[in-house]
Amino acid sequence: MSSFSPESRVGDIAVEQPSATRSFYRFGIDFCCGGGKSLESVCEKKGLDVDQVLLDITLQAAGNGEESPNDWKSASSVALISHIITTYHEPLRVELPRLKSMLDKVQKVHGHVDPERFSELQAVYTKLGDELMEHMLKEEQVLFPSIMQGNETEASTLLGDLEQDHEDAGEALRAINRLTDSYVAPEYACNTWRALWSGFEDLEKAMHEHVHLENNILFPRTLAGVN
Ligand SMILES: [Fe+2]
Ligand SMILES: [Fe+2]
Repeated sequence: MSSFSPESRVGDIAVEQPSATRSFYRFGIDFCCGGGKSLESVCEKKGLDVDQVLLDITLQAAGNGEESPNDWKSASSVALISHIITTYHEPLRVELPRLKSMLDKVQKVHGHVDPERFSELQAVYTKLGDELMEHMLKEEQVLFPSIMQGNETEASTLLGDLEQDHEDAGEALRAINRLTDSYVAPEYACNTWRALWSGFEDLEKAMHEHVHLENNILFPRTLAGVN
C-alpha cells in the first residue's frame, strides 16, 4: 500500500514516488508550483475523491506494467542540473521560437475567426517566451554554477526570485490551456493549427516536469546546503 496520506504534500509525493506524477496528470493535479499543498486540500478544491487518487498512486507504484520515471531524488545535483539543461533548457530554446512562428502564421491566416482569443494568446505566449529565456539564463549563468561550486549560501539567495518566475510561468500555461480549450482544436482547424495546439500541450507537460525537478528537488536541496 502507499505510504502517503491525505495530508501528504503533493510535491513530496512526486519526489518520493516519481510514478505518482502519472496519477497527477490523469487527475489534473499541479505537482510543480502547487507542490506545497496537501493532497487533500488539492482534491477538495478540484472536487476529486482523495481516496481514489491515493489508490491510483498506489497502483502506479505497483507498476501497471509501465516503465517508472527516473528517480532524481537520489541523483547528485550535478547530474540533475545536467539533465535539466539537456532535457528541458536546450529543447526550450528551439521550441519557444518554433511555436511563436507557428502562432504568428495561424493568427495571420485564421485569426479573424476569433480575434480576441488569438490576440490574448499572442500576448500571453510572447511574455512567457521572453521570461523563460531570461529565467533559463539566470539559472545557467548564476544559480547552477553556484550550486556546482558548492556555494549554496549564495545560490539560496536567488531561489525566491526563481520560484516567482515559476509561478508566473505556471499562470501563463494555465491561460494557454484555457485559450486552447485544453488543446482541442476546432473541427475546421488546419494542420498547422492542430500542430500548434499539440505543441502547447507538450510545452505544458515538459514545463511541469522541469519545474517539479527544480522546485521540489534541486531548490530544497540547495536551501538545505546539500550538494
Ligand atoms: Fe530550469
Ligand atoms: Fe526554473
